[in-house]
Amino acid sequence: MSSTDATPETASREDVLIVHGGTPLEGDVTVRGAKNLVSKAMVAALLGTSPSVLRSVPAIRDVEVVTGLLRVHGVDVELDGDTLYMDPTSVESAGVEEINVHAGTSRIPILLCGPLLHRLGRAFIPDLGGCNIGGRPIDFHLDALREFGAVVEKDASGTHLSAPNGLHGIRYELEFPSVGATEQVLLTAVMAKGTTELRNAAIEPEIIDLICILQKMGAIIKVHTNRVIEIVGVDELKGYRHRALPDRIEAASWASAALATEGSVFVRGAQQADMMTFLNVFRSIGGAYEVDDDPVEGGIRFWHPGTALKPVALETDVHPGLMTDWQQPIVVALTQADGLSIMHETVYENRFGYTSELRRMGANIELYSDCLGGTPCRWGRRNFLHSAVIAGPSKLHAADLQIPDLRAGFSHLIAAMAAEGTSRVYGVDRYITRGYENFEEKLLGLGAKIERPVTK
Ligand code: UD1
Repeated sequence: MSSTDATPETASREDVLIVHGGTPLEGDVTVRGAKNLVSKAMVAALLGTSPSVLRSVPAIRDVEVVTGLLRVHGVDVELDGDTLYMDPTSVESAGVEEINVHAGTSRIPILLCGPLLHRLGRAFIPDLGGCNIGGRPIDFHLDALREFGAVVEKDASGTHLSAPNGLHGIRYELEFPSVGATEQVLLTAVMAKGTTELRNAAIEPEIIDLICILQKMGAIIKVHTNRVIEIVGVDELKGYRHRALPDRIEAASWASAALATEGSVFVRGAQQADMMTFLNVFRSIGGAYEVDDDPVEGGIRFWHPGTALKPVALETDVHPGLMTDWQQPIVVALTQADGLSIMHETVYENRFGYTSELRRMGANIELYSDCLGGTPCRWGRRNFLHSAVIAGPSKLHAADLQIPDLRAGFSHLIAAMAAEGTSRVYGVDRYITRGYENFEEKLLGLGAKIERPVTK
C-alpha cells in the first residue's frame, strides 16, 4: 500500500470525513475483540477437525478479508451478530486467482501457510498488504517454514509452498521477537511431528490469547520465562469456542483522543492488565484514568484533568514495552504537552510519516535518525528517521489530511478533532475501517462534529 495512491484529488468523495474540531469528546464507547487476535484466531480454525465459534468479533475489514480467504479454502464462515462460526471440515485448495482477490489487502495470508500445509500439503501466498510503515519483510516466516520442512518456491504470482515429507518440530531462534513470525511458528508447530522450541518469541497479549485458543483445540504449548515457547506437536486438533480479548490498541486510541480534545471517555471493555504500560505513560503525561473492573460492564475512564500536560521521553518496544501501535495517538496528545517530548520508535523503521501532516497543522515535530532518549536500536545504525522530538504545546489548526496507514489515520482524526476549524480527512474508509469498528457512530456518540460531504 502506498501512501500516495489516494491523494485528496483522486480519492472518491465518499472516502472523506469532514471534521469540525475544537469539541471535547465526552461519553462512552465499547471496544470489541482485538483485530490482532481475531484474524489469527480465524486462521487457527483451519486446523480443527470440527467447527469453531469466536465471540466478540468486531465489524472491521480485516475480518472480511480473512473470511474471504477462509471461504476460498472451503471453510464455511457465518457471522451472527458478533459471533463467528467457522466450519473447516471441507477444507480444499484454492486457485491462485481466487486467493489473489485478497492480495494486497492484509498480511494475514502468510499465516495460513502452516495450517494449509498440514491440511492439504500445499499453500500459496499472494503479495502481502498491510500498512506501509516499513519494509515489513517475511524472511523470518519463510525461514522458519523451511526449517519445519516446507519447500518454498517463488514465481511472479506469489509464493508456493509444499511439504512433501510433512512438517517436523524445530529448534528456532527469532532474530527479533516478531509477532507474526511467532504466530507462524505456533500455528505450524502445533501439528508438526515432535517438539518445537521457539526462542526470542513475542509474548504480546494477543499471542497469549492465540495460545489459549490452540490449547482449547488440543495443543500442548508451554510458555517459559525469557521468551521461550515450547510446543509439543499433536496429530489432531478440534474446533474451539472462545471470546476474543478486547482491542487494547483501539482502547488506547480513544484514551488519547480524550486527552488531546480535553474530554472524558469511558472505554467499556478496556482491560487494565493488557494496558499497564500505556496507563503508566498516560499518567506520566498528566492524563487521568479510573479502572472499573466489572466483568461485564467494566472498562477504563480516561480524561483530561484540566491541568497542563507534561512532556515525556518514551520508546516503543515489544511487549511488555510500549506498543508501537500506541505511538501515533500518544504523539498527537504530546503536541499539547508543555515542553519537549521524545518518542523513539524501535519496532518499525518508518513509522513517523504521519507527522508531516501534523506539522502542517501547526505541530512542532522534528525527526532524527539517532536513537534519542533510550537504548540504541537496530534502526539507528541504518540511518532511518525513527526518533521524534515534539515541542509543545502547539495550537493545532485545521488542514486537509491524507491518511497514510491505519494507526496514523486515527491519529489524524484525533488531531483534526483537537484542532481549531474544519479539516477534511481523506482515506478514512480505505484505512480506518480496517481496524476500527463503527468509528463514525462512536465519534458521533462522543459528541464529535463530523460529517460526510454531500454527494450529488
Ligand atoms: C503485528 C501487528 C501490528 C503491530 C506489530 C508489532 C497484527 C495483524 N499486526 O504486526 O499491529 O504493530 O505486530 O507489535 O497483529 N520483521 C522482519 N522479518 C519478518 C517479520 C518481521 O524483519 O519476517 C520485522 C518487521 O519488519 C518489524 C518487526 O519485525 O520491524 C516487528 O514486526 P512483527 O512483530 O512481525 O509485526 P506484524 O506481525 O506484521
